[in-house]
Amino acid sequence: METLEAIRTRRSVRSYTSEPIDDADLQKIIEAAASAPSGGNSQSWLFISVCEPKQIARMRAICPGIIGIPSGIIVLCLDFRGQKKEVLPIIKYLDIGAAMQNILLAAHDLGLGGCAIGSFHVEGVKEFLKIPEQVEPVLLIVLGKPRSIPSAPRKKLLQEIYFQESFEKI
Ligand SMILES: Cc1cc2nc3c(=O)[nH]c(=O)nc-3n(C[C@H](O)[C@H](O)[C@H](O)COP(=O)(O)O)c2cc1C
Repeated sequence: METLEAIRTRRSVRSYTSEPIDDADLQKIIEAAASAPSGGNSQSWLFISVCEPKQIARMRAICPGIIGIPSGIIVLCLDFRGQKKEVLPIIKYLDIGAAMQNILLAAHDLGLGGCAIGSFHVEGVKEFLKIPEQVEPVLLIVLGKPRSIPSAPRKKLLQEIYFQESFEKI
């Protein structure tokens, strides 16, 4: 799929078939995440995949943002081990956003549907996945073969959000 077409046609998919995610596809998706830009190339991220149906069912119980039953969940974490969390810039959270978009676009390119999930019980996920204290789950992405693809939600018009040369309208 051509890049701009992938960007334009990607949707947050929340309804999936029960088809499992191919291991090779999952590998490509994680490679796409790891190829994202990061401030100072710090790559302070970690990715945990969960594809076992029983594990997914338990994750759904602690992640209210998950709608539908996905075939896979990727947990995007920041690794603060060996670093003072308070001196780390917000940039690291932006890096997670870049990884998120690469994952969603790679999944779309592979014919999978994905959706970012910000609504989840952080401590519950940490405990369930045995994530160490200084590793912070920041975002989940659910994946699966789309059962249905929603139509595009309304996006703001460029006239509302885009300014050329200065903030002032000429
Ligand atoms: C950081 C972030 C967190 C999100 N959290 C959730 C969530 O918890 N549950 C959900 O169903 N969708 C979630 N979404 C998906 C948005 O609702 C979706 O991107 C938005 O409605 C626009 O639709 P589109 O992705 O199809 O363009 C999240 C998206 C982002 C970027």
